[in-house]
Amino acid sequence: MTTVRIALDSRAYDIRIAAGLLDNPSTFASIAVPKGTALVVTNTTVAPLYAARLEQSLQPHFARVLRCTLPDGEEYKTWETLNQIFTDLLRQQCDRKTTLFALGGGVIGDMTGFAAASYMRGVPFVQVPTTLLAQVDSSVGGKTAINHPLGKNMIGAFYQPRLVVADLSTLHSLPPRELSAGLAEVIKHAAIADLDFLDWLESHIDALIARDVTALGEAVARCCRIKADVVAQDETEAGLRAVLNFGHTFGHAIEGGMGYGNWLHGEAVGAGMVLAADLSVRLGLLPPADAERLARLIARAGLPVRAPDLGAARWAEWMQVDKKTEGGAVRFVLLQGLGRPVLRAAPMAEVQASIAAHLQPVSAQTETA
Ligand code: NAD
Ligand code: GLY
Repeated sequence: MTTVRIALDSRAYDIRIAAGLLDNPSTFASIAVPKGTALVVTNTTVAPLYAARLEQSLQPHFARVLRCTLPDGEEYKTWETLNQIFTDLLRQQCDRKTTLFALGGGVIGDMTGFAAASYMRGVPFVQVPTTLLAQVDSSVGGKTAINHPLGKNMIGAFYQPRLVVADLSTLHSLPPRELSAGLAEVIKHAAIADLDFLDWLESHIDALIARDVTALGEAVARCCRIKADVVAQDETEAGLRAVLNFGHTFGHAIEGGMGYGNWLHGEAVGAGMVLAADLSVRLGLLPPADAERLARLIARAGLPVRAPDLGAARWAEWMQVDKKTEGGAVRFVLLQGLGRPVLRAAPMAEVQASIAAHLQPVSAQTETA
């Protein structure tokens, strides 16, 4: 088992990474939480695959183990679904000695974390991520949120889990499209922080797509180490943490503009990174060959490298509601060389030029969705 520590003083915690963790009760033996109620929050897709197995591993450690099953999909990352968690908690008379277990991908993790942050003003939670995207990114670092019709992840809280359990064997049931979406965040970590990791990815991308467990374990651990380092320096995104949003200003606009759930988050980030690299080239920060190198890797991961045609006005409108926007100026994470991110505003004409140079042909607009 690989363990990565998130060093946050009294809120420090471990990420445990290995195959088979879910079925081993000892995985959950040493979490410093009250031994009252465990509520497993999951969705209709993940529940039949893994909920009973997790519950069995939790039984020895809690007085009672309950389940809350939500509908599946980004389009359900809403107030209404969040409220379903609160309703279950209240109906089952869950008190402050309750721990929430987020079993699923980033949508379940983000919503469960937000529920834990606010139920009775805060109860502990544990992340049990079952998608590659959630194992390498969303389960780590304590960002929790729901979407608003006017903006992605706009309502939420910073709230750290007590433990992250990344069981690599759960990745075998993941649909190929979801695996590729997770690879987008893997490539993001390499592009912003680690050239050696980028080289490694270029030689192991086929092994990752084939779900070689050793390669997956290495990728998850390397991403978690990069993210742990950033989060330990800037937990609440006062500055540095924004680099983890490489590709996301364009990506969030694609997700929102196309309707939540049509483009997967990772797919939108894949195309978004191509656009952000192109913008970096236009602003004289990145050699064109490096942008092409990144785009080739993104394509090899099975991700889109072209963007949907939202129309210039809607692109501008969606990018404006990004959380990095300051005083009305949209800011982008750009690359001043591979592995060297920088946060800055860019002239809208250059932004639109990057988008125009990477639009999908009209015939493909509905296919990606
Ligand atoms: P997701 O949670 O929608 O999961 C993808 C799909 O895979 C869903 O249908 C899910 O039910 C299914 N699934 C999950 N595990 C499975 C398994 N083992 N086998 C088969 N199917 C499985 O999507 P995601 O890509 O995991 O997460 C995307 C979300 O994460 C977005 O909402 C994004 O905003 C958020 N996110 C948050 C952070 C953060 O720091 N908090 C970082 C990145 C992304
Ligand atoms: N995924 C971006 C962050 O955690 O900050």
